[in-house]
Amino acid sequence: MDEHRPLRTFGRIKARTLKPRQAGLMETLLPHLAVPEEGEIDVEALFSLPLGGGPGRGAVQNVAPSELVPASHPNPSKGEGLVLEIGFGGGEHLVAQASAQPDLRFIGVEPFINGVASCLRHIEESGAQNIRLHQGDARDVVARLPDASLDRVYILFPDPWPKVRHHKRRLIQPEFLGELARVMKPGAELRFATDWANYAAWTLEHVTRDARFKWLAESAADWRAAWPEHVQTRYEQKQLGDCAPVWLRFERSA
Ligand SMILES: C[S@@+](CC[C@H](N)C(=O)[O-])C[C@H]1O[C@@H](n2cnc3c(N)ncnc32)[C@H](O)[C@@H]1O
Repeated sequence: MDEHRPLRTFGRIKARTLKPRQAGLMETLLPHLAVPEEGEIDVEALFSLPLGGGPGRGAVQNVAPSELVPASHPNPSKGEGLVLEIGFGGGEHLVAQASAQPDLRFIGVEPFINGVASCLRHIEESGAQNIRLHQGDARDVVARLPDASLDRVYILFPDPWPKVRHHKRRLIQPEFLGELARVMKPGAELRFATDWANYAAWTLEHVTRDARFKWLAESAADWRAAWPEHVQTRYEQKQLGDCAPVWLRFERSA
């Protein structure tokens, strides 16, 4: 094992065999949407190619661009803000946000193959073309993003790793927060939710310890209720945690 590799923060990356439609989308649609595997991420280039494909985006044989790009959707290459969702699960929240805000550009990262396949189905059904995906570890993507490139980051119901001996596997760690601070624009928001009380406290403690972040809560209502445009996630619905969801918004200080 590479001793410099950070500890794994996720569980399984594959569950059941993909249904034929999902397996097909992994082969045909994902190459059009995939963040390049290596090198610094050129955000403009990533969103400038039409979903019909292009050099370096992989060969797509049987998806016609017209099927993927409804004329009613604006061109994401003109988009202003860049949003990152880390651990999007089945992609319901990611696709709902991207569909509701077609002028923003969204990068979703998720190592769980079945989740990526599910997200592709939602993307296809919605016709959203302002989403790009990476199947893998968000830390690998963040490390390759340019400084001050993100306007918002969502980390919703991350794997809680509730046992003390597993806390080191939590995604929220000082090093990763440092990387997030690097890639977030001044004034950008980090939005975090969990229904595990210890992870909420952990996150509050770690993020507020970093002077580059400011907690935006003014009253208890701010962490007890989701932000107005929130869309319930699949994991949130399951209510597997030990407390009601805690909603934390942090601003990247100027
Ligand atoms: C408990 S699930 C929540 C999924 C979704 N956000 C929801 O609320 O339904 C946590 C997700 O984070 C993903 N995850 C864990 N570590 C990750 C990492 N380093 N990068 C990207 N995703 C990660 C897991 O694969 C899993 O799908």
